Amino acid sequence: MKIRASSPGKAILFGEHAVVYGEPAIVTAIDRRTYVEVEDSKNIEITSEDLEVKGIRIRPGKRFETKEDVSFRRASYIFTAIKVLEDEIGKINGARVEIKSDIPIASGLGSSAALVVPLIASLAFHSGHELSKDEIRKLGWRVEEEVQGASSGVDTTIATFGGTILYRRGSYKEIRCKVPLVIGFSGKGSSTKRALEEVRRRMRKNPEIIRGIMRGIGQITRKAVIAIRQNNLEDLGELMNLNQGLLYSLGVSSRELDSMIRCSLEAGALGAKITGAGMGGCVIAIPNRNEVRVGIRLGGGIPIPVRTGERGLEIESVEDRGKRNNKEEGGERGGKRRSG
Ligand code: MEV
Repeated sequence: MKIRASSPGKAILFGEHAVVYGEPAIVTAIDRRTYVEVEDSKNIEITSEDLEVKGIRIRPGKRFETKEDVSFRRASYIFTAIKVLEDEIGKINGARVEIKSDIPIASGLGSSAALVVPLIASLAFHSGHELSKDEIRKLGWRVEEEVQGASSGVDTTIATFGGTILYRRGSYKEIRCKVPLVIGFSGKGSSTKRALEEVRRRMRKNPEIIRGIMRGIGQITRKAVIAIRQNNLEDLGELMNLNQGLLYSLGVSSRELDSMIRCSLEAGALGAKITGAGMGGCVIAIPNRNEVRVGIRLGGGIPIPVRTGERGLEIESVEDRGKRNNKEEGGERGGKRRSG
């Protein structure tokens, strides 16, 4: 049996970091995805050229052996996903897993959640467990908490359900609007764990001030929902710039990110800010003309035009042996079936 699953990357439009402290965030699924393909095998063997992961070999029910050197940071999401899944459903079946991705790694575009969600969904499905989408996103959330030390769950929610959502503490509401966006990638990786630690350090040192900043970001996010619904891009851009000012005070900007933001605003963007954890990674800008891409280049970054509000987790079984029923497509259950 062969299982294929995929999930989208994401851009946080408003509210990163504040969402970890209980404020709302707006996040959208982008048209870049991670694809996981699972086939029968004795052991669990994982390879991915795109993620530079090679030779991970695990005996089902056992903890980890690696055949060759792997980047531990990347592999840790994979190891933890398997551990969390086995804690939940028991020993999983042996599987050969191939992962492909067109989301830049550690870029703030949700590459970890877009890996963990389809990995959990496909390995569970391959072992005969058709978990609901909500179960999958919660397991993915647990993985992020373990690896990063904290997580609001926003990334695994958007990787599972897609669209554009207003998210707060595990619950979410769909916002049925598409926002035009240009992403600028600094080419430098961002560590969510390190950025979360820096914000936590500032919170411990000046709790009243940082709490006030978090509340301010929450207010900006609530206003942004209205601007998105009214398709008022000028207001949206202004709110983005306010959000960026507060992210700067949280210490998660960088010289490269600041340079892309300044140059895209000078090139006519209506607003620009960091997206995701920051301290590297990407910015987003609301374009009003094509020069915004030029601005991002002038600021030293790589422009990535994206479509927003894209589809969430998709899972299908090809070469179906017909043992289980086709539950549904894109609904409560994570799986759908197709004979191959
Ligand atoms: C990371 O994409 C967004 C953060 O707010 C962390 C989280 O919400 O889990 C920095």
